[in-house]
Amino acid sequence: MTRRNVLWIVALLPLLVFLAACGGDTSSSDGGDQNGAGETAQVSLGDPAAGETKYNEVCIACHGAAGAGIENLGKPFTTSEFIRDNNDDALLAFVKTGRPIGDPANTTGVDMPPKGGNPALTDDQILDIIAYIRTLQE
Ligand code: HEC
Repeated sequence: MTRRNVLWIVALLPLLVFLAACGGDTSSSDGGDQNGAGETAQVSLGDPAAGETKYNEVCIACHGAAGAGIENLGKPFTTSEFIRDNNDDALLAFVKTGRPIGDPANTTGVDMPPKGGNPALTDDQILDIIAYIRTLQE
């Protein structure tokens, strides 16, 4: 390879990285009701099998077996538009923060505790749980 070719490749690399970065984020969270754009299921990188195990330890108490929901405790995941319309990053941030009763977005008057009340959960474990709960959507 000539020196000139090498220079070209070096010059083009940042451009490729830039294009890849832009392409990777087409599924952002806010366009839920425009022309069905939010209908597309989000792609998850977590491991749903590992996520199921953790879900059954931590989240099941309020959200029920297979995300069916428990009245006055946790919302169902099967019909959740919030899960469908948000990508993994947004859901990870949500689970880490929770949604307290005082939050205007709270719909039930029941507290969703940060990490479901289990501070030991790592980001990777939460991403596995997110991958699992996506499989529960109807
Ligand atoms: C102590 C009970 C409790 C536990 C444990 C719990 N949640 Fe929740 N969760 C809630 C409540 C209550 C809400 C609904 C808050 C509201 O009124 O908007 C909720 C809402 C959610 C939502 C939003 C659903 C929607 O449609 O708006 C997600 C996602 C969620 N929880 C994920 C999890 C995950 C993942 C876990 C386990 C790591 C978990 N939750 C553990 C009580 C709980």
